[in-house]
Amino acid sequence: MNYDLLIRNATVVDGTRAPRYEADIAVNNGRIAAIGRLEGAQADVELDASGRIVAPGFIDAHTHDDRLMLSAPDMAPKVSQGVTTVVAGNCGCSLAPAPKGMRAPVTPPLDLLDDAGGWFRFATFRDYVEELAAHPPATNCALLVGHTMLRVQTMEHLGRPAAKSEVARMRELAEEALEAGALGVSTGLYYEPANAAPTEEVVEVCRPLAKRNGLYVTHMRDEGDNVLASLEETFRIGRELGVPVVISHHKVAGSANHGRSEETLPLIEARMKSQPIALDCYPYCASSTILSAGRAAVATKTLVTWSRPHPEVAGMDLEEIRRDFKLGIDQLLPAGAIYFSMSEADVQRILAFEHTMIGSDGLPHDAAPHPRLWGTFARVLGHYARGLGLFPLETAVYKMTGLTARNFGLADRGVLKPGMAADITIFDAGEIDERSSFAAPIQPAKGIEIVIVNGAIVWRDGKPTGARPGQVLKRS
Ligand code: ZN
Ligand code: CU
Repeated sequence: MNYDLLIRNATVVDGTRAPRYEADIAVNNGRIAAIGRLEGAQADVELDASGRIVAPGFIDAHTHDDRLMLSAPDMAPKVSQGVTTVVAGNCGCSLAPAPKGMRAPVTPPLDLLDDAGGWFRFATFRDYVEELAAHPPATNCALLVGHTMLRVQTMEHLGRPAAKSEVARMRELAEEALEAGALGVSTGLYYEPANAAPTEEVVEVCRPLAKRNGLYVTHMRDEGDNVLASLEETFRIGRELGVPVVISHHKVAGSANHGRSEETLPLIEARMKSQPIALDCYPYCASSTILSAGRAAVATKTLVTWSRPHPEVAGMDLEEIRRDFKLGIDQLLPAGAIYFSMSEADVQRILAFEHTMIGSDGLPHDAAPHPRLWGTFARVLGHYARGLGLFPLETAVYKMTGLTARNFGLADRGVLKPGMAADITIFDAGEIDERSSFAAPIQPAKGIEIVIVNGAIVWRDGKPTGARPGQVLKRS
């Protein structure tokens, strides 16, 4: 038998949490053709994976890669850590649709995708999907349409609930996006441009989700003092729409709330008995988003990740900037920041929770990004699974593959078995870890050897191969 690609002597961790086993894996036409002892088989490309783990390609459950896929299609921050699919359009922020276009200054937090506005050039969601199909990146993607983007494109003043006609227009845009291939709607109710939206507005804009069993994905209104109320709001939206919900980057922020994952996780688990709920988490106790005085006030330490008027301060501590440059927050805006505001015990409890998926929430256009952009998946496998023993390797892989594929309805991804798409990551379990840090965040992970997307090798010998086989994935 002759295959396109053959991986010999693999230690297979298949994405289901089943114990690892030894096998060869054959790939044909972008799909897994066979797994087993394939002694007589031959292939155009043969890889020896002796002593290596062969896993499904990782799925990044939470990204802001909407524009990265077009502006840096090698997707190096992602494929370098074994990611083969990214879920984009999170936190209410999507690059499309922009029927009215976008001019600078771009309303934060949409500016995390492009602060100059030039990339918001797709009048319809379908135009964006077609651009990705015409110029595919190295990874696959699953797309969400952002409620904040719909508000910015529909409303003159964002500090109030949408009027009936505005809700109707947003619903129409959401429906078009879902028809064009979006898997769901995301919200960023925490952020100013969407904060004035009452629960009812969200429900009415998201109505088209029901028909397609789309997902409701949310950066909740509050991840601090009122986190329980925000969870209940999320569950209510899911129930009223009759669709699954995804709680983005679950955390309990602010020192007064440290330890409260002991309240949030049991509540999530209890509600899961009566409605479909998923959640993701990044493996760090610092968050990152746009810079604001309010957020800096409740953090123990704040690092600036970018500043439009003062690019020279990127990577520096806010205190240091104040002292050495005599610059305050107002003079740095628009800007981004990293906030140390969580407890390690909560991060570990949330990561280890049976239903938690791994999502990076990486911000790919920041000058000095949070290390989660380049480090998330390697850190979970290295620091948390191998180093701390927080869970077995099989569980760590499941949290970034099989579990995520099931929650997002990516039926032919996330598990290694015949018939599935050939998204595969080969890594050294003894070596894998992040190399990125808060001081030096732009570093490819250690231990990732070969990454394959739809049967094509996209990362090898520590660099992108130039192959761009990514597809826009549909929910089934
Ligand atoms: Zn968010
Ligand atoms: Cu996010």
